[in-house]
Amino acid sequence: MIYKKVEEILNVQVQKEDYSSQLYLAMASWAENQGYSGVAEWLYAQAEEERMHMLKIVRYMNERDGVAVIPGLEQPPKEFGSLSEMFDAVLKHEQYISKSINEIVAVCIEEKDYTTHNWVQWFVEEQIEEEASVKDIIDKLNLVGDNNLYMFDRDILGMRGGANPSA
Ligand code: FEO
Repeated sequence: MIYKKVEEILNVQVQKEDYSSQLYLAMASWAENQGYSGVAEWLYAQAEEERMHMLKIVRYMNERDGVAVIPGLEQPPKEFGSLSEMFDAVLKHEQYISKSINEIVAVCIEEKDYTTHNWVQWFVEEQIEEEASVKDIIDKLNLVGDNNLYMFDRDILGMRGGANPSA
């Protein structure tokens, strides 16, 4: 079984992971149109990963006799300025997601749901990795500067981190 408050907050997280996937898909498409094929691949893969995060929560809730609500699609922005601005937005978004994962941890403790508390630790770890990997990208971007974006675009695929969502 799953506690009502835990079910509610997990359904909110389903929406957030779903939106993350849409957001990164929009960014991937934008980057591809700007000619940044490496960045686009990185973002397409990231969009897939976010979808796996959403599925991981849906399947956990159903496994625990909860009811997962599948959200409708929310339209993400279409323009992202520069690569720098876009990756700053990715970092900001991931920090927001980390905060909401911590809120799930807090509700689990409040409700004494130690099973979900244990399960959600995977997301806690994942957020540490995701934030670190985006920070690395931003550092690299600052290092190469605007004149070397071709090199940056070529090298970014070697910078993919993240844990396996099916683990
Ligand atoms: Fe599923 Fe990037 O957080």
